[in-house]
Amino acid sequence: MTVAIHVDHLTRKFNDLIAVNDISFEIEQGEIFGLLGPNGAGKTTTLAMLSTMLKPTSGSATVNGMDIEHNEDGVRKSIGIVFQDQSLDEELTAWENMDFHGRLYRIPGEVRRQRITELLDLVELVDRKDDIVKTFSGGMRRRLEIARGLLHRPAVLFLDEPTLGLDPQTRNHLWQYIATLNKEHGITIILTTHYMEEADRLCNRIAIIDHGKIIALDTPANLKDGMGGDVVTIKSSDPSAIIEALKEPWVLRVEQHDGQVIISLKNAEQHVGTIVTLLNREQIAIESISIHKPTLEDVFLSFTGKTIREEEADGKAAMRMYQKMTRR
Ligand SMILES: Nc1ncnc2c1ncn2[C@@H]1O[C@H](COP(=O)(O)OP(=O)(O)OP(=O)(O)O)[C@@H](O)[C@H]1O
Ligand SMILES: [Mg+2]
Repeated sequence: MTVAIHVDHLTRKFNDLIAVNDISFEIEQGEIFGLLGPNGAGKTTTLAMLSTMLKPTSGSATVNGMDIEHNEDGVRKSIGIVFQDQSLDEELTAWENMDFHGRLYRIPGEVRRQRITELLDLVELVDRKDDIVKTFSGGMRRRLEIARGLLHRPAVLFLDEPTLGLDPQTRNHLWQYIATLNKEHGITIILTTHYMEEADRLCNRIAIIDHGKIIALDTPANLKDGMGGDVVTIKSSDPSAIIEALKEPWVLRVEQHDGQVIISLKNAEQHVGTIVTLLNREQIAIESISIHKPTLEDVFLSFTGKTIREEEADGKAAMRMYQKMTRR
């Protein structure tokens, strides 16, 4: 196995704010690696440092064996980037956008034309190659951006929120492209997302990141297995009483969250009956009860005590407060 990306105690501060806080990890060649976390977790900042667009405050990293601070050009040539903010020229056609990028990377004319055709074919935009980007849907733009990011044949592709704001069908379609690029073209992919399901389905390994820290890193299967088997969620007006009533050896972990009790246990179907009996005996009313296999949302909740959506809501609340303060 060859290491594609090596990250060593990487940190980035913006004044007092620590956006990325001492993270370390390695990505193998050929992996699809996901950075999963809520708004403001530090995902884009991490990718920006790894793609040499932003200097680290401390720590170091190599991409394809090259140091991000001491060999910026080498790193840039060996990576493709599709960032969160759109960067296509709206007034140019799909072909012209590709061609411009190819010239920037000094890809000779004939090779350039051939690759542009190949890549537009890959993302199914050949038919629209002479249309200006202004007329493209969100999904078509994303696909064009990905095709453009691949034009100089990078070994590693950085995708920052590749599916943000797209409808479910287009998102699915894009996942397939990403998987194909990885499988058939051997491209190492590092992507960020806050869609749990996307990370789960697409990534070989996931680093869950929150407040600039990596709080868990493993394969999706291992992360979910770490929860201990099954999850039973009970809704009730008295969650604390449930926790008290369920002090049983087969209960691996109990968490209380937002009026719900979340219980991790093995073989839930064998215990649900007992749970109901125990709660009846204590005369605790159950509003609802459900069993499911752990999801990455459960993993995030168990590590942070919050759901990803709540983290995001908190961030937005802080932002509104900030806007109010600065408006005065
Ligand atoms: N140029 C900057 N100047 C000041 N603060 C910044 C800058 N860039 C990012 N930050 C802050 O660093 C933190 C991490 O931001 P970052 O964009 O990396 O998060 P993210 O995980 O990509 O979030 P999102 O899911 O919203 O894209 C945030 O608190 C953000 O406000
Ligand atoms: Mg971001």
